Order: sequence, then structure tokens, then C-alpha cells
Amino acid sequence: MNAMLRVLRPGRNRSRWVLKALMMLVLSTMFVKLMLMSRFLEFHANYRVMNHNSYFLIRPVLANHSYMAQRVVREKNGAGHELGHEQLWRSPRSDNYHKCIDRSSKETRSKTVTNGYILVHANGGLNQMKTGISDMVAIAKIMDATLVLPSLDHKSFWTDPSDFKEIFDWKHFKRALEDDIEVVESLPPEFAAVKPLRKAPPSYYGGEMLGLLRRQKVIEFTHSDSRLANNGVPDSIQRIRCRAMYEALRYTKEIEELGKKLVNRLRGNKEPYLALHLRYEKDMLAFTGCTHSLTSKEAQELRKLRYKVRHWKEKRINSTERRLQGGCPMTPREVAVFLEALGYPSATKIYIVAGETYGQNGLNGLVNKYPNIHSHSSLATEEELQPFMQLQNQLAALDYIVALESDVFVYTYDGNMAKAVRGHRIFEGFWKTIDPDKENFVRLIEEMDEGKLTWENFSAQIQSLHANRTGAPHPRLAGDSQKLEESFYANPFPGCICRKS
Ligand SMILES: *[C@@H]1O[C@H](CO)[C@@H](O)[C@H](O)[C@H]1NC(C)=O
Ligand SMILES: *[C@@H]1O[C@H](CO)[C@@H](O)[C@H](O)[C@H]1NC(C)=O
Ligand SMILES: *[C@@H]1O[C@H](CO)[C@@H](O)[C@H](O)[C@H]1NC(C)=O
Ligand SMILES: *[C@@H]1O[C@H](CO)[C@@H](O)[C@H](O)[C@H]1NC(C)=O
Repeated sequence: MNAMLRVLRPGRNRSRWVLKALMMLVLSTMFVKLMLMSRFLEFHANYRVMNHNSYFLIRPVLANHSYMAQRVVREKNGAGHELGHEQLWRSPRSDNYHKCIDRSSKETRSKTVTNGYILVHANGGLNQMKTGISDMVAIAKIMDATLVLPSLDHKSFWTDPSDFKEIFDWKHFKRALEDDIEVVESLPPEFAAVKPLRKAPPSYYGGEMLGLLRRQKVIEFTHSDSRLANNGVPDSIQRIRCRAMYEALRYTKEIEELGKKLVNRLRGNKEPYLALHLRYEKDMLAFTGCTHSLTSKEAQELRKLRYKVRHWKEKRINSTERRLQGGCPMTPREVAVFLEALGYPSATKIYIVAGETYGQNGLNGLVNKYPNIHSHSSLATEEELQPFMQLQNQLAALDYIVALESDVFVYTYDGNMAKAVRGHRIFEGFWKTIDPDKENFVRLIEEMDEGKLTWENFSAQIQSLHANRTGAPHPRLAGDSQKLEESFYANPFPGCICRKS
């Protein structure tokens, strides 16, 4: 297996590579034959399992690959030294830090006052809505207002008709926040006639907005994202944001339970697993204009989609340039090369967080190297998944749970989900999260593919570039503009995590 995979990487000598590739073709034909034979035996084994216990059904696409995995016990990493289990899976040290989000007694809400009601439409995908709602909780606190259960976005790319109560445990949400703000299911009848004031939120909630709220009694926020600054916000307000995000916004019992089941199945034999947010999905590629490894027909389809979405401002995008700047999600093949360079053996159990991979080659570039791949559709039975099918936000919630609980989380694009999961893992104790340095990665993989860099040199450089990109404690990076600074929810330190004194 090892030798075969090494051959797959075009080296300096092209003609030798072609010869090797031909040899490999012969070898792989034999291999596939053997594999089909063993699959056949395996299918029968699984079939029996299913018959007397339909609880754990293994889908054929993602069949049990551990017979392949067993062949690779431990792989040598390119730098010439072996990376042990510990180095691959251990989280960074964080003994000197702890969560600090308890409210002091003087922060506790006085139950008798409310200045009025806030209605809010959360917008975007699941994680954008979660952070937006957490900000609105903080804003309700600043204004001493009552929050009506937020309404959710049904129109984003991930159309999902689910409402708040279908994704989140709303009773828990209300209870968990009752000492911060009042949450009600709907506007009380006496205010039903008040025409809510529609107002895109200004930066001051305690001043002008408070006056408005007191006069109008009901204010409606038409969007919920980017409502509060990341930095320069009092700690008491930062703590509320974390209580909302990490404690109050719990998913429904159905989602939480299935999520835990999937985690248990992945850890069935006490092996660690890596959750990979493989954001090589159609919407992301259309939005970023990245077409590396795609056909021109696929690139054309993405371009069309981009021009159709009016609020995506950037239309003309040079994919090559963007990729070189580190602005593209990694392709499945790039992720495989990346993980291999870091020393993860091909037996590594990988859970794919994300929807369908775009492009005619799908996941092949990854599966060729890492066959031990899982997803919610391979781990859950059809009956278990049935209630969530087609409900993209509920499926995203399921994936969120598995990603949060993973031993190592790797993301290929720093979008809303990656930020939310990374921040949550930091909050829970700096659980290992690998943040690829894509600009350098793309430069190096190009050099290697052109034969300018040996695998050993490439791997050594990737390892040293990422030695310090594993989610270890560091204060949130400030910046000149909101865009340049680290998002509060991607790193709630300082604010919700404190140094032990
Ligand atoms: C997968 O295959 C291996 C080896 O054939 C076997 O030991 C293991 O129990 C199988 N796992 C499952 C979940 O069927
Ligand atoms: C895109 O950018 C690359 C790298 O900067 C450049 O070589 C190429 O000519 C550009 N393509 C177009 C169509 O502008
Ligand atoms: C990798 O190659 C570069 C030059 O291409 C060299 O400067 C560097 O020392 C090499 N690193 C290792 C670890 O071999
Ligand atoms: C790791 O990065 C942080 C900033 O992100 C820096 O403060 C720290 O010194 C770095 N540590 C090492 C060993 O390079």
C-alpha cells in the first residue's frame, strides 16, 4: 500500500513516474480483484449482523476498511522521525486556564423590569444564526429588554424550514438565561397590535436604541449577524455571550441524542477520530470562486451560481490568484497530502463534517489515502436519519456535535462553522484544532508537485509550520477593522476564559 501511494505522487522524474504508474495499474487491478473478493465476504458478514441487529447498518460506500487499515500500523513521517500517537492526538497544554463565565450576584436580572420586547430574525446558516442569537441575548441584557424566541432563516443557501423549537431545546434556552434576560415564546397579546419598528441595528444599544425601545415597546431586528464588536466589550457582556452560545443554545433532545450515538459509534473501539470540515461544497466554491481541480464545465456552473446570488458582491474572481493567497478551501486531495505530511497514518478514522463534496471526483482524492472515512449517513441507520433528512440546519447541528467531541478537528476553510466549533473547543479546554496555513501550504504543494521539493522536505516544512497552529491558548487577535480581527466566538479568550492566578 505504502509503496503504491508513494508512486502516486509525481516526483522529479516524469518518465519514471509514468512507468511506475503503469506498473501500478497492473498491481492495482490485482488488488481490486482481491478487494472485491474480500468485500464479498465482508458483505455477507455485515448482512448477518444487520439481520439480527438492524441497529448498526454499514453502508456499502463507506464499508469497513479496517482490513486495509490494519496493514498500516504506524507510518514513518517524512522528516525521518516517527510521530507517536501522543503527538498526533494530544491537545495543547492549558493547565493555567479555566472557564470563567459565572455571573456575579449584582449581574443577576431584576425580574420586575422590562423596557420592551425585541423581535429578531436570525440570518445565515446554522452557526451564523447561533452567534447572531448569542449577540442578541447580550443586546437584550444591555437594554433590559425581553427577547421573543428568534425566528430563523429559511432562505439562505441551506434552505431549511425548521424553526427555533425544532433545532434548539427552547425550554432549556429560556431557563438557562433566566437570570440574564427574560425570554418569551411570542409577543404578549397586549403588544400584538404594536407595529414593530424595523431598524437595522446601530452600534449603540444603551443610548438612542434604548429610548426608542421605551417609547415603542417593541423593536424588530431584521438581521442578527455582526451586531456586537469582538473587543472592547465589558467582561460581564462577554460572559453572557458565552452562556448563550455554549450553554443556552443546546440542540433538541433528538439531535443531541443522535449526535452522542454517532460519537460513541466512532469511538466504539476506543480509537481516536479526526473530524474534518471539508468545505469543498458547491455554495462555498461558488462564493469564493475557487475552481482548482474542477473541470471547466463545473467552473462554469459555479460562476453562474455566483452571478445569480445578488448579495455576493464579488463576481469576477481569479481562482489561481485566490488559491495562492490561501483564500480557497482545500481540495480533498490537498487535505490528504496535508494530513499525511503531518504524520496521520492512513488508518486514521476521519469523520467528514459537511454536505456533498462538489466535483466529478468527489471524495476520491481523500479516500485513496484515507479509506477509513465516516459521515452521518454512514454511521446512522436510515430510520435514525429519517427525521433530519433534507433539513440542512438540523444535519449541520448533528455534525457540529460530532466535530465538537472529536479528538482532533481540522478545517479546510475558516468559515462560520469552523469558527464556531474552534471557539467552542477552546472554551471546553483547548481541544486540539488544526488551522492550516493555506498560503504556505499551497506554495509548498505546488513546489512539490513540480518536483522542486522532496516529500521529506515538504513534510518537514508542513510540520514545523503547524507546530504552533493547534489551538493552544493565545489572546484573541485584535485588528484595525472587524474583518481583520479574530472573531469573539472563534476565540473567547479573553472574556470567558481566564488565567489561573
Ligand atoms: C471491520 O473489519 C475488521 C477486520 O476484518 C473486524 O475486526 C472489525 O470487527 C470490523 N468492524 C466492524 C464495525 O464491522
Ligand atoms: C490569474 O492569476 C494568475 C496568478 O496571479 C495569473 O497568472 C493569471 O494570468 C490570471 N488569470 C487571469 C485570467 O487573469
Ligand atoms: C528544504 O529545502 C530547502 C531548499 O529548497 C532548504 O533550504 C531546507 O533546508 C530544506 N529543509 C529540510 C528540512 O530538508
Ligand atoms: C505560538 O503562537 C503564539 C501566537 O499565536 C505565540 O505567542 C507563541 O509564542 C508561539 N509559540 C511558539 C513556540 O512559537
